[in-house]
Amino acid sequence: MRVMARVAGRDFSEKPAIVEGEDALAQFTIGFRFMIEDLERAHFELEREREELKAANDRLQALDRAKTHLINSAAHELGTPLTPIKVQLHMLKERVSQPGFETLRPGVEMVDRNIGRLEVLVRDMLDVARLESGKLELQCERADLAVLGRDAVQTFDALASQAGLSLSFEGPRELWATVDGKRIVQVLFNFLSNAIKFTPKGGRIAMALSRRADVAEFAVVDDGVGIEPADADRLFQPFSQLQDPVRARPGAGLGLYISRGLVERHGGNIWCRSEGRGQGSTFGFSIPLRAPLGPASGPA
Ligand SMILES: Nc1ncnc2c1ncn2[C@@H]1O[C@H](COP(=O)(O)OP(=O)(O)OP(=O)(O)O)[C@@H](O)[C@H]1O
Ligand SMILES: [Mg+2]
Repeated sequence: MRVMARVAGRDFSEKPAIVEGEDALAQFTIGFRFMIEDLERAHFELEREREELKAANDRLQALDRAKTHLINSAAHELGTPLTPIKVQLHMLKERVSQPGFETLRPGVEMVDRNIGRLEVLVRDMLDVARLESGKLELQCERADLAVLGRDAVQTFDALASQAGLSLSFEGPRELWATVDGKRIVQVLFNFLSNAIKFTPKGGRIAMALSRRADVAEFAVVDDGVGIEPADADRLFQPFSQLQDPVRARPGAGLGLYISRGLVERHGGNIWCRSEGRGQGSTFGFSIPLRAPLGPASGPA
C-alpha cells in the first residue's frame, strides 16, 4: 500500500519487493514492478519533453521580444533623420516653386512622395512595436463618430475621384462615443486606402456607420478585387498581403494588423467579409460606445 501511495504521488524511488514463487501474489508483484518501471520511464520522458518545451517557449519569447525591440529601434533610427530632411525639403519646395526652377520640380515632388511613404512606414513600425509591447496608450475622449466617418470619407474624396471611384458615407446625423478619435480615424483611413487600392476604376466604395444597443459599427464596402474566404483571417497578421508581389500595390502589409490592435484596445472586434475573388469586400469593426480600457496587451 505504501508503494502504491508513493507511485500515486509520482515518487518512483521505492519498488515492491519481488515475492519468490509461482503463485498469484508472486505474479502480481512482478507485474506491478514492471508497471512501475514503465510508469517511471514515461514520467521521466514527459518531464524531459516538458523541460524542452519550456526552453523552446522561453527562446521564442526572447526572440519575439528581440524582434519587437529591433522594429522599435529600426523605426527610431529611420525616423530621426527624417525631421531635418523634411525641413530642408520644405525649403527646397519653396525655392523650386519660384519661376526658373520648373525642371527641378518633378524630382523634388518625387522625393517628397517617397519621404511621405517612409514617414508612414516609420509610424506603422512604431505602432507595431507599441502594440506588441503593450505600450500603446489610447487618449480617449467623447467624440462624434459620425463626424469622424464623414471627415475620413472627405479626406479620401480627391484620391477616389482620381482613381475613377465613387465614395460615399451613410450614417446617423451624430453618434457619440468615448474613443481615441485619432486612432479610430487611423483604422478608417486604412480601410479606405485599401478599398481604393483594391477596387478597379469605375467601382464603388461606401462607408456605413450604425448603432446596435451600446455598440457602434463601421463598415467599408467595396466592389473591388475581393478575397477568398479562406484568406480573410490571415490578413490581420503582420506583413500579410495577398496580391502578386510582382504587381504589388504600395504598402508594407501592416495596416490591418495595426487596425486590429487598435480596435481590440477599444474592446471591439474587427472583421472582413468577401464572397471571393472579384466579388468585392467589406471590412468593418464594432466598438462599445464606452470603451472598457483594460490593461494594454499586444495582439495575439
Ligand atoms: N478592400 C480590400 N480588397 C481586397 N484586398 C484587400 C482589401 N483590403 C486589404 N486587402 C488585402 O489585405 C492585405 C493587407 O492589408 P493591409 O492594410 O494590412 O496592408 P497594405 O495595405 O498592403 O499595406 P499598409 O496598410 O501597411 O500600407 C492587402 O495587401 C490586400 O492583399
Ligand atoms: Mg493598408
